[in-house]
Amino acid sequence: MSRNEAVIIRSVLTMSLHTPTAAIIEKPFGTLADGRGVDLYLLTNDNGMQASITTYGGIIVSLTAPDRNGVFADVVLGFDNLDDYLAGHPYLGAVIGRYANRIGKGTFTLDDQTYDLARNNSGNHLHGGIAGFDKALWSARPRSRPEGPQLRLTCVSADGEEGYPGRLDVTVDYTLTHENELRIDYRATTDKPTHVNLTNHSYFNLSGPGGRDILSHEMLVNADHFTPVDEGLIPTGEIREVEGTPMDFRTPHAIGTRIEDDDEQLQFGDGYDHNWILNKPDTDPSFAARVFDPTTGRVMEVVTSEPGVQLYSGNFLDGSLTGKEGKAYGRRCALCLETQHFPDSPNRPEFPTTMLRPDDVHETTSIYRFLAR
Ligand code: BGC
Repeated sequence: MSRNEAVIIRSVLTMSLHTPTAAIIEKPFGTLADGRGVDLYLLTNDNGMQASITTYGGIIVSLTAPDRNGVFADVVLGFDNLDDYLAGHPYLGAVIGRYANRIGKGTFTLDDQTYDLARNNSGNHLHGGIAGFDKALWSARPRSRPEGPQLRLTCVSADGEEGYPGRLDVTVDYTLTHENELRIDYRATTDKPTHVNLTNHSYFNLSGPGGRDILSHEMLVNADHFTPVDEGLIPTGEIREVEGTPMDFRTPHAIGTRIEDDDEQLQFGDGYDHNWILNKPDTDPSFAARVFDPTTGRVMEVVTSEPGVQLYSGNFLDGSLTGKEGKAYGRRCALCLETQHFPDSPNRPEFPTTMLRPDDVHETTSIYRFLAR
């Protein structure tokens, strides 16, 4: 019996103790240039919702959700083979680390020592650098949880990787709950003081990618403030009220309503590419945002323990990428809601800190919940 067959059988048996339908199936997804094998795990919950996740980059390759008639569709951008991911892409579905979003000029000072990070975005550091967690090969362990099937991914980032101090041990638990949630629990520890900010970079289109753009999706963001940026999308340090700006999503409306407004912030991002400061009483997971697709009735709610969320409206997608089922990914054909600490926090002591010290444990939770109406 092959290793894969053994895993499949063990997983299905384990799941059947809890539920008749939930399962995790593993299959090979390809091979890296250095010969290491990459796997793909298919998680199914009790309702038939499915998530497929690869050990390369911890990438969510597909995620299905039911519409108002109970019809499932894949709601995330991705490729159906490893080679297309290896050819390069704008972080589709990947785990982002060590630091999600930008660090200005790719540098920070910690305990009187200055660290130079990989600069991969107009002189700034973006999404962990040149070889961030989106390109790591993660170790996987399928697990049966009462809430639903879970894939535990782990990786170790060596001291000095992409310029960061400290060895970082990282765990990402993806749980596909029977409540139709994709729950992501992040955990990291270090052996030297460092900075950490982990997220997932899934691109969503609730109609199913490759057709309509997301400008008619209705959005609500639970935030009274956002962090304005400069031309390089680095926060200026100002905390600005959303009131009276195109960033005001406190009542739900179509994303496209004001995206073309003559507004300096929208010009810098070529659309929405900003961090909202969530209205949060504490660091427990709480409601952050809701997206509704009037065409299919699909709803996605985002709940997070993080203080911020980046809404990126897919402005830099330009049709040059062809994804699953041969569908081209055009401008604004999907949106990201990246739960996170604020960009450039290592250089902004006034922002909630991203510092992690050896005695501390970095633990955050983000939930993408799917409904229909
Ligand atoms: C950033 C965008 C960037 C995109 C893909 C987003 O998280 O905010 O500026 O273009 O990721 O790299």
